[in-house]
Amino acid sequence: MVIKNVAVIGAGTMGSGIAQVFAANNFNVTLVDTEQTYLDKGIKTISSSLDRLIKKNSITADQKDTTLKNIFTATQLDSIPHDTGLVAEAIIESKSAKLSIYNKLNDIVNQDCIFASNTSSISITELAATTRPDRFIGMHFMNPVPMMQLVEIIRGYATSDATFDIIKQLSISLGKTPVEVFDYPGFVANRILMPMINEAIFALFEGVASAQDIDTVMKLGMNHPMGPLTLADFIGLDVCLAIMEVLYDGFNDSKYRPCPLLKKMVAAGKLGRKSKEGFFKYD
Ligand SMILES: NC(=O)c1ccc[n+]([C@@H]2O[C@H](COP(=O)([O-])OP(=O)(O)OC[C@H]3O[C@@H](n4cnc5c(N)ncnc54)[C@H](O)[C@@H]3O)[C@@H](O)[C@H]2O)c1
Repeated sequence: MVIKNVAVIGAGTMGSGIAQVFAANNFNVTLVDTEQTYLDKGIKTISSSLDRLIKKNSITADQKDTTLKNIFTATQLDSIPHDTGLVAEAIIESKSAKLSIYNKLNDIVNQDCIFASNTSSISITELAATTRPDRFIGMHFMNPVPMMQLVEIIRGYATSDATFDIIKQLSISLGKTPVEVFDYPGFVANRILMPMINEAIFALFEGVASAQDIDTVMKLGMNHPMGPLTLADFIGLDVCLAIMEVLYDGFNDSKYRPCPLLKKMVAAGKLGRKSKEGFFKYD
C-alpha cells in the first residue's frame, strides 16, 4: 500500500512537528484542529522551525516553501480526503477525546486507512477497540519531532503484521529510527523516563538536595543533556503526573505512585515552562 495523503489531527506541539516531517518528505498533509487560531499557530511554529533549519543550512528556502505548500489546514474532520492512507492523531492526552475522534473518522476515510495515535501513555489496544483494531497502531514521536530520531511503534493486541510493516517503513522514509514496542503502560520511553523524573521529585520533596543540585548531579554525573527537573518543566508537570497515574493504575504497583509534591504543584498550577513556573522560573 502506497501512502500519499496523511491527516494529522491536532496542531499543537506534537501535531505541528508531525505535520512538518510528513510535508517535508512530500506527503500531502491535512492538518486538523478545532479552531483556525490553533491551526495558524501550528503553521507559524512549522515556519519558524523551517527557518531554523535554513539557518543551519539543513534545507533551502525552496524546500521550506514546498513543505508549507504540502500542508492544508481544516477545522472539520470531514475535510479529510477519503483516500487518506494514514491518520496520525496528536490531540490532547484524553482517552474519551481520542475515541470520539476515531469513531467519527471511521466513517470519513476508507477502510484501509491506518489509524496511528501519538499518545504518550494510553493503551493502543483500548483506543483501537471500537474502530479498526488490525489497522490501528501507536506512532509515538518525540518532542521536538523534526529533531528527534526515535519513533516508538506500539503494537496493540490486534495490530496486524501488515500494518506494523507499513508504519515501520513509513517511519524510515521520514528519516526516523523506529523501535517496535508492545502495548503496556508507558510503553518503553515513559516507563523508564517518568519514574526517573518522579524519583528526582521525591529527592527534592525529601530535602535530599536542591532542584538545581539534583539537575547538576544528573547532568555532570550521568552526562544527561538536561536535568530531570528541567526536563519535567519542559514536558509539563500535568503531563508527567498524568503519565505516572497511567503507570500506577496500569500496573497496580506502588513503585509508580506519583510524588505528593508533583500532585501539589499541578494543583497549584505550577506546570513548568508553559505556566512560567515549575521547579524553576521562566520569563
Ligand atoms: N508534548 C510532548 O512532549 C509529547 C511527546 C510525545 C507524545 N505526546 C502526546 O502527543 C499528544 C499531543 O500532545 P501535545 O503536547 O502536542 O499537546 P498540545 O496541547 O500542544 O496540542 C494538542 C492540540 O490538539 C487540539 N485538539 C484538542 N482536541 C481536538 C479535537 N477534538 N480535534 C482536533 N484537535 C483537537 C488542541 O486544540 C491542540 O492544538 C498527546 O497525546 C501527548 O500525550 C506529547
